Amino acid sequence: MGERRRRSAAAADRGSLARDRALAGNRILVGDCLDELRRIPDRSVDLVFADPPYNLQLSTELLRPNNTRVDGVDDAWDKFGSFEEYDRFTRAWLAECRRVLKPDGALWLIGSYHNVFRLGVALQDLGFWILNDVVWRKVNPMPNFRGRRFTNAHETLIWAARDQKSRYTFNYESLKSSNDDLQMRSDWLFPICSGPERLKDDGGRKAHPTQKPEALLHRVLLATTNPGDTVLDPFFGTGTTGAVAQRLGRRWIGIERDTDYAKAAHERIAKVTALSDSALETTPSKRTEPRVPFGTIVELGILRAGSKLYDERRSVRAEVKADGTLAVPGSRGSIHRLGAAVQGKTACNGWTFWHYERGGVLHPIDNLRERAKVELGLTKTHRPHIIAAE
Ligand SMILES: C[S@@+](CC[C@H](N)C(=O)[O-])C[C@H]1O[C@@H](n2cnc3c(N)ncnc32)[C@H](O)[C@@H]1O
Repeated sequence: MGERRRRSAAAADRGSLARDRALAGNRILVGDCLDELRRIPDRSVDLVFADPPYNLQLSTELLRPNNTRVDGVDDAWDKFGSFEEYDRFTRAWLAECRRVLKPDGALWLIGSYHNVFRLGVALQDLGFWILNDVVWRKVNPMPNFRGRRFTNAHETLIWAARDQKSRYTFNYESLKSSNDDLQMRSDWLFPICSGPERLKDDGGRKAHPTQKPEALLHRVLLATTNPGDTVLDPFFGTGTTGAVAQRLGRRWIGIERDTDYAKAAHERIAKVTALSDSALETTPSKRTEPRVPFGTIVELGILRAGSKLYDERRSVRAEVKADGTLAVPGSRGSIHRLGAAVQGKTACNGWTFWHYERGGVLHPIDNLRERAKVELGLTKTHRPHIIAAE
């Protein structure tokens, strides 16, 4: 082998080693995010969480009424020469994030009024599809000392799919269960990071000016990833994303330019214990559960042809036909179509609209699906209150 070919083969090996290591997950890449992102293979990441520089544009130091200095963000990593420079940087790293995301991947950004609008425009221009913006309302925000503006008490997160057509992960049922069975809203209330969770340097000062609370990442990762997914954070800081991902059984890759922050992140994550598989089990989403059509329930004899179904108030009565359709005088159709027609609506979830009677009590036909799944061997558990209609 010639010297040139040998050298290029060695370089390719190094490249693939770096790729393999990056793919294996659970590592901090110390360096500039643009350089490090370029080493990560295309379509290899499930979720990006990015907490980029805010570009705060602080020109003078901020003092409290007693003249003590406010410990804000005045670090070199947050300084850009102009909005144009910030936008160029934003578009470059966002484009790389989009490249490394799997087709069904998604991205979260967090920012303040200083940068979040610029981030949003860049996202949309690059082809991401915004799914929600979420307001993180801070229980204990930093006061506004000068009193010339509102207290800045929130940050904004943007959740976006890689593409409009991406089949992104959203653990709707888990979130709903965790919110006392109410659909989770887009305004989240959490304290800023303080107390023992806040990392300190040897002098007892904050190790990082903008360490995010783990609670915030806990919700983000539980909502939009599954155990085993790979999460990438290109602005790792003290490694909040990595610490929570480690605990929740997700794989993680962090990129951080500052070696002190990277070291703090490494030491922090080393102390985290991953939860057990059983503690990580989540409420399955109805959409990912095996589908059982209504006709199968009739075929299995769980509900016999000729049975009567009712709406919740018993104002409508339909008959079940042998082919799995329902009929009322003058109209016939699927459980959904007939449900919509009798209400004069364009759509209806027939599973919750129609009820069967047992012992004088009405039950939604949705309950019968569980029994069908047991009979079809699609699930092992069987809720005891489910009974066949007569
Ligand atoms: C807002 S902080 C992230 C804080 C982090 N979420 C946490 O909880 O600790 C942004 C971080 O990005 C890093 N950073 C800024 N520019 C960078 C770049 N071009 N490449 C890599 N890291 C960068 C900074 O050093 C800083 O730690």
